[in-house]
Amino acid sequence: MLELAPGLIYHPDFFDRIEQAALIEDLRAVVRAAPLFTPRMPRTGKPFSVRMTNCGTLGWVSDTTGGYRYQATHPETGAQWPEIPDLALRAWRETGAYHHPPEACLVNYYAPEARMGLHQDRDEQDLAAPVVSISLGASCLFRWGGETRGGSTKSLRLHSGDIVVIGGASRLCFHGVDRILPGGSALVDGGGRINLTLRRVSAA
Ligand code: SIN
Ligand code: FE2
Repeated sequence: MLELAPGLIYHPDFFDRIEQAALIEDLRAVVRAAPLFTPRMPRTGKPFSVRMTNCGTLGWVSDTTGGYRYQATHPETGAQWPEIPDLALRAWRETGAYHHPPEACLVNYYAPEARMGLHQDRDEQDLAAPVVSISLGASCLFRWGGETRGGSTKSLRLHSGDIVVIGGASRLCFHGVDRILPGGSALVDGGGRINLTLRRVSAA
């Protein structure tokens, strides 16, 4: 493992190929129960290029009526979110090292042209807990900076099976995905990428 910045910890190849394929199978079941939806920016209504769903007791959603938030049900079906797969919980235990389980696992699906602008993860009450980010499928160019927008940034290629823990002094760092890279793992159909972020939402 490698400390990219204080509290920002990179675990290359955390999951081997067999575990990655098993996790993708688990996620197929998640998406059947909780279909991918297109979130929208709270003020402008502009759609994200990433499609999302969640598992866990809470899921992250965004639209023009309620803004960024966590809620217990899917915004379109109204159903509760499915359970977080065991492999993802194992990643939380082994890399997050936090004394409470995650409540939300956001599933981001990136088609080859999708991206994610620089942002902070700050909709959680418990900022002592890390965010544990799992990459599957196509590689991407991940970018991070400090706690203020517009400062200097660095980037790193994330590959299928890699984990990044966003915690400690980096818990509120700006981060995003510049682009999906061609020619990597074909685990996700059509050259896509899936990112899971495990989060503790409620203050313990
Ligand atoms: C996110 O910040 O929600 C996603 C990061 C990633 O896709 O690697
Ligand atoms: Fe994020």
